[in-house]
Amino acid sequence: MPLGKPAQQRRLAGVLSYEDARDRARKVLPRLLFDYVDGGADDELTMRLNGERLRRLLLRPRTGVWVPRPGLKTEVLGTTLSMPVLTAPCGGMRLVHPDGDLAVTRAAARAGVVPVVPSGSGHSLEDIAASDGPKWFQLYRFSDRAGMESLVEGARAAGYEALVVTMDTGIAGNRERDFRNGFSYDLRINAGTALRLGPQMIRRPGWAFRFWRDGMPFELPNTARFGSDGRAMSLTEMARGGAESFSPTWRDVERIRETWAGGLVVKGVMTGDDARRAVDLGADAVVVSNHGGRQLDGVPATIDALPEVVAAVGGRAAVLLDSGVRRGGDVVKALALGARAVLVGRPVVWGLAIAGEAGVAHVLELLRSQIIRTMCLMGCPSVAALDPGWLWAHPRS
Ligand SMILES: Cc1cc2nc3c(=O)[nH]c(=O)nc-3n(C[C@H](O)[C@H](O)[C@H](O)COP(=O)(O)O)c2cc1C
Repeated sequence: MPLGKPAQQRRLAGVLSYEDARDRARKVLPRLLFDYVDGGADDELTMRLNGERLRRLLLRPRTGVWVPRPGLKTEVLGTTLSMPVLTAPCGGMRLVHPDGDLAVTRAAARAGVVPVVPSGSGHSLEDIAASDGPKWFQLYRFSDRAGMESLVEGARAAGYEALVVTMDTGIAGNRERDFRNGFSYDLRINAGTALRLGPQMIRRPGWAFRFWRDGMPFELPNTARFGSDGRAMSLTEMARGGAESFSPTWRDVERIRETWAGGLVVKGVMTGDDARRAVDLGADAVVVSNHGGRQLDGVPATIDALPEVVAAVGGRAAVLLDSGVRRGGDVVKALALGARAVLVGRPVVWGLAIAGEAGVAHVLELLRSQIIRTMCLMGCPSVAALDPGWLWAHPRS
């Protein structure tokens, strides 16, 4: 079935890979927004490593085995996914496309995968919850603990099935591309921004028109619930941080577990010790993540951290992974090393930039077809059968 309207299909024609999607998005978005999504922290060492280390890992196929339809279904926290993929929470998506997380969530439901809806969404968690399919909610602390608790309450009332507590964002990472571009999240048009952004906007009229028609939104509706005056914080205010950690702490995880009966996921774990701690506090899953290399630069690729975490968790919780997953083969490699499923961030954002919901759906279907092809060619009947035996033993020199 074709995805989206004819104009969207035209925009997606020829997008066969992550690189195609990234190139196409680069032509749609103003430079500073493209860089906001594409970039990482400091020297972007960790961001590069995420991809390089995944790609260095080699597959070990079994030949002469006919696998017509490999099984991709995966269960995570009681929900069956049509493939072992979730969409990663990405704040600021309404700047990328007016439909933002509404589009991501709808596309995810259509694809049979779970979206992780970010705290820093341009749409309220209630509006997003109104669409079909199971959803998880990603939790930040924003201003303080009370603010965080009101988000938890909102997620509960709106029917989110799990909370994903992001732990690696005490303060924002040092994203030098953003500083160079003068990206403040706040694209409010005044004389200064008009001068600075004018030349970029003229070259991206489609994006500029959509952004203008959307009312140039910068506020995060989810933050309106805890300001004393009911005023929503802007993206800039959110990113500025304050005297308190922007991420929940272990103490918060403990408190949340006492009152939250749904699934509890700790995102941003890189070591066995932290994974064990999360599980001891009652987490049902951990996400091995370095935030796509956007936070602490100089940490290893997540695929290198994964085996230590899997061993530490010892089957007591599900282990998920994100950062650098670009192709179906990457998904297969992560699963072979013990991940139950992966989250994808930037690939989804590029799809959103190109064609809204249809673009996200396109990117997810690309991933699905790549996973299927890889599994068929490997002679592997189902994702449940993947283990380290499907990887070459000495892949990394
Ligand atoms: C533009 C952008 C915004 C993000 N915002 C958030 C966020 O608000 N909360 C969060 O937990 N992670 C956030 N992340 C990190 C993603 O959830 C995920 O960990 C990361 O993108 C995975 O790496 P990948 O982009 O290489 O797939 C963001 C990532 C990007 C690219």
